[in-house]
Amino acid sequence: MRSILHRVARALGSDARITVMTGAGVSAASGVPTFRGADGLWKDFRVDDLATPQAFTRNPRAVWEWYDWRRQAIAGCQPNAAHHVLASWSLRFPRFTLITQNVDGLHERAGASDVLRLHGSIWDVGCWNQCAGSPHRWRDDSVPFPVLPPSCPHCGGPLRPGVVWFGELLDSEVVDRSLDATRCDVFFTVGTSAIVYPAAGFLDHARSHGAMTVEINPEATPASSTVDVVVPERAELALPELDATLGAHPLALTTERLRLEPLLPRHVEAAHQLWTHPEVRRYLWDDRIIPRETAEEVARASAADFARHRFGLWLVYGHEESGMPVGFCGLRTDGVGPGPELLFGLYPTYWGRGFAQEASRAVLAHAFTTLRLPRVTAATDAPNERSARTLSAIGMRFDRRAEHNGLDTLFYSIDMGR
Ligand code: APR
Repeated sequence: MRSILHRVARALGSDARITVMTGAGVSAASGVPTFRGADGLWKDFRVDDLATPQAFTRNPRAVWEWYDWRRQAIAGCQPNAAHHVLASWSLRFPRFTLITQNVDGLHERAGASDVLRLHGSIWDVGCWNQCAGSPHRWRDDSVPFPVLPPSCPHCGGPLRPGVVWFGELLDSEVVDRSLDATRCDVFFTVGTSAIVYPAAGFLDHARSHGAMTVEINPEATPASSTVDVVVPERAELALPELDATLGAHPLALTTERLRLEPLLPRHVEAAHQLWTHPEVRRYLWDDRIIPRETAEEVARASAADFARHRFGLWLVYGHEESGMPVGFCGLRTDGVGPGPELLFGLYPTYWGRGFAQEASRAVLAHAFTTLRLPRVTAATDAPNERSARTLSAIGMRFDRRAEHNGLDTLFYSIDMGR
């Protein structure tokens, strides 16, 4: 087993394009039942009664009872070690794609960003009549729904679960992006019986593009005889072991006084404390950097915002601070500039103590050495002495001043080698 994992680990360089496709098996250890196999859902329930548009037309209430029951069960489940490793890989590897057939949302709850959900989400709903007033899908976390079937807030007709049923078309954008991700160096198929198409076919695409193909599944599947490497082990054991073989997380950056850790779900509480700290609140509100909202809303919005950043964010811990984060720092590619953008925010009291410079330098070093980015930009919509001093102290030069989102914004940049 160890030598198999070492072989896979050798292919997982920081430059490698890595695609992981998951199925119900990754959530088994969280207590979410799989579909096939001895205890699978399709043993006790019939697809034709519950997971087709025809079934819904015949008996929407019966279909909803099943989905409502599953939503209640999933709400009580937690992501397991397999979800956590994959979430950390989405930060660790710049060219990483996670495709899932699962509708349970556990990958996202573990902190994975930009998950390609082939079969939709059990947490989404849509108007069965596709009324003009409602969006195609929206999230509704109600558990349980007070009335089944729940009704559309726009037209009063029945809502449907936001999953893709048998006989329905998959979202073409999700399929296209998944197909694109099969042009990769390593393709993993994890915890899936590999029989439901088009997902099952992605493996063949990856192989035809020359990818190393790896299956992680304790049982043999039709894919087992075609992949390069079979890891006959449960995902929640195999993935952490493979992750440990990769060595220390390169994104856990350290400097003399600071530790920068990838922002993972277990940090949410810490992030919450950061955003709700009275001093941070005073700084944000009194300086009118953001509108006055409740601290909880700010904390939630920033957690969602963090989850979208391509290169991830780090929480910055001060060594003297008994494990409390003193801010965040990171690189994002969805920023206002043309390229990656340096992003940081620290408790105001720490700015003067050089923490901002130290954290930003560590992130810039990572950008230039590990990610080999040619140029990084910083945008500040709080143009003041303090931010200007910090940015020039780390070698960033003033580039231009422009309005962004209605705010006066200063852009700074730095090129590799400067
Ligand atoms: N780790 C890894 N694999 C596991 C584990 C585990 N702990 N436990 C079970 N498995 C494997 C099983 O051996 C099986 O091969 O997970 C697989 C689960 O297969 P299915 O139940 O068929 O689930 P999946 O492949 O996701 O099904 C595809 O079928 O009914 C539809 O829409 C549903 O998305 C689903 C699709």
